[in-house]
Amino acid sequence: MEQMIEQIKTHLAEVEAFQSSDPEEIEHFRIKFLGKKGILTSLFAAFKDVPNDQKKTFGQQLNTLKVAANNKLEESKKTSGSKAKASTTSIDYTRPGQPIEVGALHPISILRNQVIDIFSQIGFSLSAGPEIEDDWHNFTALNLPEHHPARDMQDTFFVQTNPDILLRTHTSSVQVRHMETNRPPIRTLSPGRVFRNEDISPRSHCVFHQLEGLYIDKNVSFADLKQTLLYFIKSLFGKSKIRLRPSYFPFTEPSAEVDIYWGLETEADYRITKGTGWLEIMGCGMVDPQVLTNCNINPDEYAGYAFGMGLERMAMLLYGIDDIRMFYENDIRFLQQFSSMG
Ligand code: PHE
Repeated sequence: MEQMIEQIKTHLAEVEAFQSSDPEEIEHFRIKFLGKKGILTSLFAAFKDVPNDQKKTFGQQLNTLKVAANNKLEESKKTSGSKAKASTTSIDYTRPGQPIEVGALHPISILRNQVIDIFSQIGFSLSAGPEIEDDWHNFTALNLPEHHPARDMQDTFFVQTNPDILLRTHTSSVQVRHMETNRPPIRTLSPGRVFRNEDISPRSHCVFHQLEGLYIDKNVSFADLKQTLLYFIKSLFGKSKIRLRPSYFPFTEPSAEVDIYWGLETEADYRITKGTGWLEIMGCGMVDPQVLTNCNINPDEYAGYAFGMGLERMAMLLYGIDDIRMFYENDIRFLQQFSSMG
């Protein structure tokens, strides 16, 4: 026992004598005294074998050693830290910082956000639906029963061999879902991805984005539709001449195609408008009463309009992009050009 007390004293003297600001030596000191297999650990382990009447003295000595070792360690670390700091006074404060790479929103996201902003100013909310749809929401409820020839207007991808489950061919499916679960007045915008079994070319793709608008209330007229679209087109394109050409969609009656007058000032204007000055940008119409009935809305009480536009097509016009495939290839040189927008 005497011998152990002596040993502790020797260790204590060594701890007190230790002096270094060298990080390696300090670490060495730490491992030797305070490490998992260090001197203190083994002395504490020996504690249980010390006779009871001597436990007090031994314990006190041991504690003194522990406190001293810890203090010495902290102290040494401090001096070595301040020494390290002192040796780095040659920082060049004029050196330029590392540039931070700024990411970019995808052009389709930029445009979608712009369109949402424009319509939210006149009270449209947002809604969404699934990309994998059933036949009812994509076709049947929209007046496209089985074998209806207009189903061929949109070549469909079916999921496995089940003809009831498909990838939605348009965002009009979200109209149906929204009307089924909400009561008028309804004013909603549904952006989303749609899928059509089409060949990929510079002008068409099998995956693209649409943005659907739906407005249902009492006394909604075609004039409301035209006025809303004019407001939108002025806001987004800065153009104020539009025309509505009669068209056909099974779920709207009457239906129209919306053209904007783009102008014929530059060579590019001639090319994109095929020399007419006019550009078709979306489909629209008054919601067919049968569609309202399908969604449990009384057509004698309510009326409404709907419109649907392709985002890629509009982005191509606005940003001067002439190949739709650019949107899906994720070429960083293409995407980076949009880093200052949105
Ligand atoms: N769903 C139609 C399409 O994809 C667009 C449309 C939407 C037309 C709403 C009229 C009303 O071509």
